[in-house]
Amino acid sequence: MTKKSVLLLKCLVWVGCLAPLGRLIFRALTGRLTANPIEFITLSTGTWTLIFLIVTLSITPLRQVIGLAWLIKFRRLIGLFAFFYGCLHFTTYIWLDKFFDLSDMVKDVAKRPFITAGFLAFLLLIPLAATSTAGAIRRLGGSRWQLLHRIVYLSALLAVIHFWWKVKADTRQPRIYASLLAVLLLYRVAAWLLRRRSRLVPERTAPAADAGPGRHLET
Ligand code: HEM
Repeated sequence: MTKKSVLLLKCLVWVGCLAPLGRLIFRALTGRLTANPIEFITLSTGTWTLIFLIVTLSITPLRQVIGLAWLIKFRRLIGLFAFFYGCLHFTTYIWLDKFFDLSDMVKDVAKRPFITAGFLAFLLLIPLAATSTAGAIRRLGGSRWQLLHRIVYLSALLAVIHFWWKVKADTRQPRIYASLLAVLLLYRVAAWLLRRRSRLVPERTAPAADAGPGRHLET
């Protein structure tokens, strides 16, 4: 892929990621945030946080299955946009909905478990966003960084639970996100099992020269 096409793709990804915010701003300026603007903004930013989380998680499987290696260039950017929309969602709640009333928020968390799930999902994204720089990857070391970033699956799971508990009766939409997440998780587990098996097989069939009794059990 040429430098020019990477740049063009980057611009398109930025535009795509900023489009939900642009839509909100446009609706605000034209007085089309519905009769309940706070609810509209909360639902919109919440939905986009979840969508960006799922898209971020889809990048590695898509890259491996379809063979689009360049997709990886956009994983961090899209992941950071998930965090950005999560911040907008959380800010709407604490500022526009609760006016920074801490006791009201604590009551809300205790009364409505879906808020607790959303809060945990958001909290888990913070260390991931904080360690998304090249410097943080270097400091943590590749494998520790990767291990830490598996948390994103837990965050996405909590986000789906948050959505599911919020809608109560009509669970059609959360079901779609839950199914997508299940497929992505199953893919990662299957890929991990295959990798593990291919690492073990050569050891079992290796010539006996350095293979003492029980050699293949040492890992
Ligand atoms: C990763 C973090 C989060 C994700 C992905 C997320 C996602 C969502 C989604 C998808 C909805 C429902 C949208 C709809 O019904 O169309 C929602 C609603 C909501 N979320 Fe979150 N959320 C997150 C974190 C939080 C946090 C931290 C809070 C507040 C502490 C919060 C408070 C709410 C509230 C109050 C609603 C309901 C709004 C209403 O019905 O008026 N969420 N969220």
